[in-house]
Formats: sequence, C-alpha cells, structure tokens
Amino acid sequence: HKVLLINGPNLNLLGSREPHVYGSTTLAELENGLRVQAQGLDLALECFQSNHEGAIVDRIHQARSDGVGFVIINPGAYTHTSIAIRDAFAGVDIPFVEVHISNVHRREAFRHHSYLSGIAVAVMAGFGTLGYSLALQFVASELC
Ligand code: DQA
Repeated sequence: HKVLLINGPNLNLLGSREPHVYGSTTLAELENGLRVQAQGLDLALECFQSNHEGAIVDRIHQARSDGVGFVIINPGAYTHTSIAIRDAFAGVDIPFVEVHISNVHRREAFRHHSYLSGIAVAVMAGFGTLGYSLALQFVASELC
C-alpha cells in the first residue's frame, strides 16, 4: 500500500521554528524516521512538503493517479484557511489523517477551526512529532 505524507507551509523549518511549540526534530529527521517505520509496516511512504497551496492541491490530485491509499497531512496554517485543499480531498476521495504537532485547541482562537477535520478520518493534535508516527500506525491498521 502507498501512503503519502504531506507537510504544508513553514514545516520545512521544523527543528528551528518556534522549538518550544514544534520541538527540535527537523523535517528530514521526521521523514527518515517515518520511512523506516513504514518499511516495517510494509507500506511505501512518499514524503512531500510545500509552502504553496496550489502545489498541495496538485499533489493530492496526483495521489489518485499514483494509487495512494491513505494520506497523512499536516496542512500548517492552510488548515485554517483552505477550502481548496478540503475540496481536493473530497474530489479524489482518498482517506486522510490530519496531524498537528501542537494542540491547536489550546492556542489562538483562529487555530481552533479546521476546514479539513470535517472530512478527515482522524485528527491528531498536541502529540508533538510523535503524532505522525501514531497516525502512520493507525493508517497501517486501516490498510492492512
Ligand atoms: C500546525 C498548527 C497550525 O496552526 C500552524 O499554522 C502550523 C503548524 C501544527 O502542526 O501544530 O503551521 O499545523
């Protein structure tokens, strides 16, 4: 089974960006760890990061032609703004888990609403980067 990991805007700065909120693990370290975990779960993991909304929409469309079975996405700030990313998921009909490193519900009010949660299979928030790993374990149990 193919699984696609999408990290949205500013997550390329992971490790140096507000480490008190997002931790000290870099995106490369996170992706490498998840690739190893995916191998053990017999999943093919592809990793994608973009700071551009349209590029994320395009990648979600491509996921359908690639035969991706599940997406794990941290949409970053697009969580709170992007109807286009929600519509892309609705359009391709690929199940996804929404991941947030921080607990968005104990932060500013503008982070409390997500355009994606209403169509996500599951939502993680506040588990730090461990949340991605837990999401991947869940995805494996759904697909296998
Ligand atoms: C985030 C939370 C968002 O509100 C924020 O804009 C991010 C990261 C998280 O992982 O906690 O960029 O999605």
